[in-house]
Amino acid sequence: MPIKPLKKAVLPVAGLGTRFLPATKALAKEMLPVVDRPLIQYAIDEARAAGIEQFCLITGRGKTAIVEHFDVAYELERTLAERGKDEILQELRSLSIEPGAMMTVRQQVPMGLGHAIWCARAFIGDDPFAILLPDDLMQCDPPCMAQLAEAYRETGGNVVAIEEVPRERVNRYGVLDVAEDKGRLVSVKGLVEKPPVDKAPSNLTIIGRYVLMPEVIGHLSKMERGAGGEVQLTDGMAKLIGSQPFHGLRYTGRRFDCGDKAGFLEAQIAFALGRPDMAPAVREFLKRYA
Ligand code: G1P
Repeated sequence: MPIKPLKKAVLPVAGLGTRFLPATKALAKEMLPVVDRPLIQYAIDEARAAGIEQFCLITGRGKTAIVEHFDVAYELERTLAERGKDEILQELRSLSIEPGAMMTVRQQVPMGLGHAIWCARAFIGDDPFAILLPDDLMQCDPPCMAQLAEAYRETGGNVVAIEEVPRERVNRYGVLDVAEDKGRLVSVKGLVEKPPVDKAPSNLTIIGRYVLMPEVIGHLSKMERGAGGEVQLTDGMAKLIGSQPFHGLRYTGRRFDCGDKAGFLEAQIAFALGRPDMAPAVREFLKRYA
């Protein structure tokens, strides 16, 4: 059977951002900027670079700024044009989404990541889809989702981005039970969400980038509660194993956990150092803190 092209992405953005209070009291955490662009924009740009054309944001209360961000800001654009600010104008224009290519769905109750993805079921339909968790900011070349899309074309099934973490930290992640470790690709025989350290089947953990087959929705719709009393995406994915290919991909590049204050700060430094217009100044001031 031909492999269906990957054209859709779901981006859960309903989280409360409690770890960044008070900054996130009135501001969606996905709008927190790294250097000069909000986290959500990095995720959308990464998805676009993987050929994705349709986006579904799973939102909640207080998240309207995210939708505004991808809209055309007519007055702003006109003012920038009048002032001859062409460079930033072009950048703003490149942000706007093709009409009809972005939709939002409200997750009315915080029942977990699996429930958030299930809320996108009408958008997903019968198609394979990507998931990007904007808290995980990726610095990868090629972009992380493009690496996953490539692995999807190779394997024809579900692929999640993975990385090794120190044993004592496995309880913060979805963890792989490995069938066969082939290096770049790891075939999976089981998945466990946030296992106790001594019960974890490996130290290979899922990060916030996935390519999944639509059948996961059927499993999520049972609304079985898992770790933390939430409907876990990991549990829904685990049920696909055996009937569909399921692989972990050791992606090339770096991940910054921007749901964590230190990770967020490190991302600022790393992304600023990656920008030719900023790197010299940042290198200079960093000397003062060594
Ligand atoms: C979620 C997933 C987990 C995954 C992690 C990656 O957890 O449930 O399996 O390892 O994202 O960032 P959360 O960070 O929402 O607790």
